[in-house]
Amino acid sequence: MKIFLDTANVEKIREMAGWGVVDGVTTNPTLIAMEGRKFEEVVQEICAIVDGPISAEVISTDAEGMIAEAREISKIHKNIVIKVPIIPEGLKAIKVLKAEGIRTNATLVFSCNQALLACKAGASYISPFVGRIDDQGGDGMEVVSEIVQMIENYDFESEVIVASVRHPVHVVESAMIGAHIATVPAGVLEKMVKHTLTDVGLKRFLEDWEKVPK
Ligand code: E4P
Repeated sequence: MKIFLDTANVEKIREMAGWGVVDGVTTNPTLIAMEGRKFEEVVQEICAIVDGPISAEVISTDAEGMIAEAREISKIHKNIVIKVPIIPEGLKAIKVLKAEGIRTNATLVFSCNQALLACKAGASYISPFVGRIDDQGGDGMEVVSEIVQMIENYDFESEVIVASVRHPVHVVESAMIGAHIATVPAGVLEKMVKHTLTDVGLKRFLEDWEKVPK
């Protein structure tokens, strides 16, 4: 399973890319706004750090506007993937962008039906928001399961990015389901590598090594 970082924080991305396990980055308007910097500048820097798909979102809500924005944003770097909301205008835009060779990530996906339509329109990636589904009392991972099964049933080319990940269990469940990608906030990646027994074990090994005659 590929792991993307779900942040627009360049320092965090640089630090964690150094771990050698980051395959891509996803951003959204909220994450970009949190940085208090210009969109193009942030996206350019991210592309210079991580050599993988970098999702950047359009803010237009009509197909024409989305397509125009996508054409401009994709000029920033060859690895840019355009995030498009899964609304009827978004479907139209995804179809046109696919024909132009511009990769898209269908975002704000909350159901298998939305995912099916995004696959049919030609989205490269589909992002179900598991945390937000859970917040509403639903089962986010069940939706991911349905989407993965649907893609397998019909051999669609789209890859599933499990998004709105809130904790490491979401990542384990994504891997068990066979989702292609999980996009994780920096804090979740930090928790994934951490285990108390690892810390205790390492401390003991280092202490015992001191007892070895030198
Ligand atoms: C990533 O593609 C999504 O925009 C992001 O995971 C949403 O996460 P949130 O629900 O925590 O805002």
